[in-house]
Amino acid sequence: MTSPENPTTIKVETVNRGLPAGKMPELRMMPAPSDANVYGDVFGGWIMAQVDIAGSLPATRRANGRVATISVNSFVFKNPVFVGDLLSFYADIVKVGNTSITVNVEVYAERNRLQACTVKVTEATLTYVATDSDRKPRKVPPIETLIHS
Ligand SMILES: CC(C)(COP(=O)(O)OP(=O)(O)OC[C@H]1O[C@@H](n2cnc3c(N)ncnc32)[C@H](O)[C@@H]1OP(=O)(O)O)[C@@H](O)C(=O)NCCC(=O)NCCS
Repeated sequence: MTSPENPTTIKVETVNRGLPAGKMPELRMMPAPSDANVYGDVFGGWIMAQVDIAGSLPATRRANGRVATISVNSFVFKNPVFVGDLLSFYADIVKVGNTSITVNVEVYAERNRLQACTVKVTEATLTYVATDSDRKPRKVPPIETLIHS
């Protein structure tokens, strides 16, 4: 059974590499007992919701306005998430189309924080569409027109 006290069930290649250097997470969250499933681990749907929010943040900045999620292209839960893990969500734009923006999201859990155990728990790719006030697709603006670029 997986538990915070039994890290031997964690995939070795995803442990103790620390948080990505030189990058800022879009979100940092700590799941609560109310976010757990019937087995006591964190519900996958809760993680998916946070990933969607994290991915939407760079997409919204790049779109310079509202976006809608059109597709979850891939979603891998590499390791379980436990109540009390400190989660960091990193989101990078990997493709900009005419109206769409595709974002890769990686989630790391700081577990047993006093022993500095960091585990990559989730990786996903989502596509967002820039939308206008009628919720119709609009062109992603050229990057040089963005005030914050
Ligand atoms: C987002 C929305 C406005 C897009 O309108 P649409 O007419 O379906 O979109 P289009 O066919 O014009 O495609 C828009 C872009 O999405 C891309 N796209 C369409 N389907 C896709 C898919 N399955 N995966 C990845 N990208 C996709 C298209 O290639 C296009 O990108 P491009 O302009 O960069 O080439 C519309 O689909 C919508 O409102 N969906 C619901 C959004 C929503 O509620 N999301 C939250 C769900 S809980």
